Amino acid sequence: MKQLVVYFSRVGENSVNGRIEIIKKGFTEILAEKISAKKGAAMFKIEPVEPYPSSYEECVKRSRKEDQDGGRVPYLHPLPNLDEYDVIYLGFPCWWRTYPRVVATFVNDYKFVGKTIYPFCTNEEGSLGLAEMELKGSARGAIIKPGFACKGSEVDNIDAALEAWLNK
Ligand SMILES: Cc1cc2nc3c(=O)[nH]c(=O)nc-3n(C[C@H](O)[C@H](O)[C@H](O)COP(=O)(O)O)c2cc1C
Repeated sequence: MKQLVVYFSRVGENSVNGRIEIIKKGFTEILAEKISAKKGAAMFKIEPVEPYPSSYEECVKRSRKEDQDGGRVPYLHPLPNLDEYDVIYLGFPCWWRTYPRVVATFVNDYKFVGKTIYPFCTNEEGSLGLAEMELKGSARGAIIKPGFACKGSEVDNIDAALEAWLNK
């Protein structure tokens, strides 16, 4: 059974436990790498054509507008070989209680018939918010399994919980 980790993650200024910090490697990317290593899964990064601003305030502004518009946010590279994979770990930072529009665009672009999606996210609050419910409505044909969520700031200390989720 071939497995793939698909994820989006951002670098730059972010609010971490309520304080603005400069992030050099996104929290979701760190989690994506852990899952890939534990499962021997290939990785695919969703990269927006126009990168999100590294200014936290500007990023908040842009993403809020994208959320309100609900339109496509184009990404650079299409995924060439989704057919090869049965299991997809789909990772994202929680933005506005769900996945960012660039991830929604990716999900809308593919058919997932016969595939199982395990969502995972990092966030400030510790939950997947509306993401699982929204994925069930958007990822055509996929079986959506219960996801994994952790605070971005705790991503280095969640191996036991991650392992338990991956082994379920
Ligand atoms: C535009 C924006 C919106 C966010 N909205 C939420 C939110 O609704 N709930 C939450 O818990 N965290 C929210 N966060 C915090 C991120 O989910 C969190 O910092 C995450 O770990 C970042 O992951 P990354 O480093 O992979 O981009 C938001 C962050 C940004 C930049």
